[in-house]
Amino acid sequence: MRLIRPLVLLGFGLVVQAQKCWEKLTCTGPLESAFPGDWESNIYAPASRHVSPTSVLALADASLISAWPGPAHITGNGSALVFDFGKEVGGLATISYTTQGSGALGLAFTEGKNWIGLWSDSSNGRFQAGDGAIYANFTTSGNHTYTMDKVHLRGGFRYMTLFLITNETTSIDIHDISLEIGFQPTWSNLRAYAGYFDCSDDDLNKIWYSGAYTLQTNAVPVDTGRNFVASGWNNSGLLSNGSTVIVDGAKRDRAVWPGDMGIAVPATFVSIGDLDSVANALQTMYDHQNADGSFPEAGPPLLQQNSDTYHMWSMIGTYNYLLYTNDTAFLNKNWGRYLQAMHFIYNKVLQPSGLLNVTGTRDWARWQQGFNNSEANMILYHALVTGADLATWQGDTTGLADTYRSRAANLSTAINQHCWDGSFGAFKDNATDTSLHPQDANSMAVYFGVVPASSPSWSSSRAQSISERLTDNWTPIGAETPELPNNISPFISSFEIQAHLVAGQSKRALDLIRRSWGWYLHHPNGTGSTVIEGYLTNGSFSYRNSRGYSYDESYVSHSHGWSAGPTSALTNFIAGLSVTGPLGSTWSLKPQFADLKYAQAGFVTSLGRFSAGWNVTNNGRDYSLWCKIPDGTLGNVTLPPLLSGKTGKVIIDGKSFKNRSVDKRDGLTFEIGGGNHSIVVVSK
Ligand SMILES: *[C@@H]1O[C@H](CO)[C@@H](O)[C@H](O)[C@H]1NC(C)=O
Ligand SMILES: *[C@@H]1O[C@H](CO)[C@@H](O)[C@H](O)[C@H]1NC(C)=O
Ligand SMILES: *[C@@H]1O[C@H](CO)[C@@H](O)[C@H](O)[C@H]1NC(C)=O
Ligand SMILES: *[C@@H]1O[C@H](CO)[C@@H](O)[C@H](O)[C@H]1NC(C)=O
Ligand SMILES: *[C@@H]1O[C@H](CO)[C@@H](O)[C@H](O)[C@H]1NC(C)=O
Ligand SMILES: *[C@@H]1O[C@H](CO)[C@@H](O)[C@H](O)[C@H]1NC(C)=O
Ligand SMILES: *[C@@H]1O[C@H](CO)[C@@H](O)[C@H](O)[C@H]1NC(C)=O
Ligand SMILES: *[C@@H]1O[C@H](CO)[C@@H](O)[C@H](O)[C@H]1NC(C)=O
Ligand SMILES: *[C@@H]1O[C@H](CO)[C@@H](O)[C@H](O)[C@H]1NC(C)=O
Ligand SMILES: *[C@@H]1O[C@H](CO)[C@@H](O)[C@H](O)[C@H]1NC(C)=O
Ligand SMILES: *[C@@H]1O[C@H](CO)[C@@H](O)[C@H](O)[C@H]1NC(C)=O
Ligand SMILES: *[C@@H]1O[C@H](CO)[C@@H](O)[C@H](O)[C@H]1NC(C)=O
Repeated sequence: MRLIRPLVLLGFGLVVQAQKCWEKLTCTGPLESAFPGDWESNIYAPASRHVSPTSVLALADASLISAWPGPAHITGNGSALVFDFGKEVGGLATISYTTQGSGALGLAFTEGKNWIGLWSDSSNGRFQAGDGAIYANFTTSGNHTYTMDKVHLRGGFRYMTLFLITNETTSIDIHDISLEIGFQPTWSNLRAYAGYFDCSDDDLNKIWYSGAYTLQTNAVPVDTGRNFVASGWNNSGLLSNGSTVIVDGAKRDRAVWPGDMGIAVPATFVSIGDLDSVANALQTMYDHQNADGSFPEAGPPLLQQNSDTYHMWSMIGTYNYLLYTNDTAFLNKNWGRYLQAMHFIYNKVLQPSGLLNVTGTRDWARWQQGFNNSEANMILYHALVTGADLATWQGDTTGLADTYRSRAANLSTAINQHCWDGSFGAFKDNATDTSLHPQDANSMAVYFGVVPASSPSWSSSRAQSISERLTDNWTPIGAETPELPNNISPFISSFEIQAHLVAGQSKRALDLIRRSWGWYLHHPNGTGSTVIEGYLTNGSFSYRNSRGYSYDESYVSHSHGWSAGPTSALTNFIAGLSVTGPLGSTWSLKPQFADLKYAQAGFVTSLGRFSAGWNVTNNGRDYSLWCKIPDGTLGNVTLPPLLSGKTGKVIIDGKSFKNRSVDKRDGLTFEIGGGNHSIVVVSK
């Protein structure tokens, strides 16, 4: 198992801190990665909590540029150099410099390269033009060291512009820049991942790791939430109890958003494995539950209210957290509040339709919400199904699990009856005859199994139809969201790719990942290391800057965990390994080859390490699979159909699987216990 050992004991009783955690926090994170290997070269996280810029750019005057590291010189009012950290970072910078004369050294930050300048990109307010800069003022010539104050911690940026404001012919020589990273505050080794992924497409690997790194930048010290201020920025808000908490974005909002966690948490589990931040985020939602049973839409200090969908995401988040940790003490502590939350939302299911009537109308960013909105009904279906499992895990003996399951079945019937548009072949936005067929509800219908998901699920014609209709919205750089026109939402696209995968349409899923996430990863103005909150179909980063709104375009977050869907999707559906019972006591291995030659992945629970991989060989005629799973568990293995060739003979752990085979149409599912297994399929 991974060691948790922050201190190194040397001879003579000397105690030395091996690697630092943030401020005075106790290091509780892992020391080593669970799956060492070549794939670790794709990890964006730095080896040390203290990092320096990797290169320097000119803002206006290219003659200012000198080799970096090495003294960098700025002279005269308004002169500036831009320091590039080479990837998304965040924290407190310390700068050593020598001055002649008097003036001010300005610091301005941005995630996107197109906002480098004497003003920071916008984090504090959507309608405010930029956050401005912070200054280290000096009145004397000589050597100085400046460290940013904690309130001005900059949560996410790639570029830092240093500039000079002076009334004189002053100049500054910058000798050294060191940034203390503020995120993942309880880890001493930021590269000690619990999970890994590797496949034959290097872009997919980089996308997987950019999702993982994004989630690291979203795990923040609990006292660094965003406070709104009239100008500049102030990141000293209290987010939760504990030491570390998962928020929506590195730069902003720096608040707990349970809907975002619907994507961020499964991705966290398969990659960095930081579930402490998840526990603290969920607990803060329970601690701020309202008297009527509703949860806030966002955690403190924001505490936005009035969202039925985000309310349900806190409930679903509780299920995900229990699935990955079996933290029954957490469930016990909050069970009464969970039941109140269920009561609050199920009271909004009205007859005769049998559909949820949404009255808390805030949501992710879609323009319309309310009435019996389909997306909200899909989420309620999932809340009921997962609620049934929670009731079982809680040891409920009052029949709640059955009640929730039968409510889910009734709801599914109602949704399929009232919201399905048979002539179009997808769900409408609600039970009216609207012509809007949303990306969110349709993706969730397949992903959550609201459309009949018989085995194998891809025989479901509604699921197939939805998967196909969703591609109508595709542009060369991603899927346009009908419920948020002109926008591309990698959050909702994270549900869409998983819908295609549940429908067995793996090539479609990879196509969308490459178009959308691939586009951003290679964008010259992006962070090249994280996943973005959203963007427009015209290729600008100005997410949601349409419909008469005129936001500061730089407000968009470039490191947003809600867009990390490919990270869990590639592990769970392409490598094919997922947990289905607490801690992986039951699990599933169901790979999809798409256009890849090989893939493998792994993750950790307290039962041990789980990993699996596959190779397609002989021009797609044969394939082999392996898995290493803790003993005492039980899984379902589903062998995919052959890509080519006729009947495939199945050999498990060296022995022929009698009377069972796969062919081009049908795969094969069987139960197998934990342990190390190897499966070979050879076509005749
Ligand atoms: C110094 O430069 C800043 C930034 O370009 C500008 O706003 C300011 O007016 C200049 N001050 C003087 C005295 O020129
Ligand atoms: C420049 O001069 C103005 C006017 O005297 C003064 O308000 C300002 O503080 C000075 N700026 C610097 C950076 O010294
Ligand atoms: C990157 O930003 C620069 C500066 O705003 C802009 O001129 C350029 O078109 C952008 N590149 C792309 C690919 O959008
Ligand atoms: C420091 O310098 C900046 C830029 O000239 C100015 O806006 C600010 O008022 C100064 N702060 C102090 C405390 O003098
Ligand atoms: C100022 O800092 C520079 C670079 O670190 C160093 O070479 C120089 O000796 C220092 N000067 C003084 C007066 O301390
Ligand atoms: C930051 O915000 C907090 C909460 O509003 C406030 O108490 C504090 O004074 C602010 N700090 C600064 C430096 O503005
Ligand atoms: C910390 O826990 C206490 C006690 O449960 C709770 O009242 C408080 O709201 C929590 N603080 C935050 C910031 O969530
Ligand atoms: C989960 O926790 C419960 C209660 O502590 C325990 O009975 C159960 O065996 C645990 N499940 C697994 C898979 O460890
Ligand atoms: C749904 O809720 C709204 C707002 O409370 C209410 O006006 C409407 O009548 C409800 N719809 C149904 C079908 O009851
Ligand atoms: C149904 O959905 C459409 C499309 O989003 C929307 O325009 C309409 O207002 C919704 N109807 C109701 C009653 O909420
Ligand atoms: C593919 O097969 C080779 C040779 O057996 C093996 O070394 C490799 O680990 C396999 N790759 C995966 C991802 O399973
Ligand atoms: C395997 O799948 C079958 C059919 O869906 C199910 O009944 C069984 O519980 C599954 N086994 C495990 C270990 O998940």
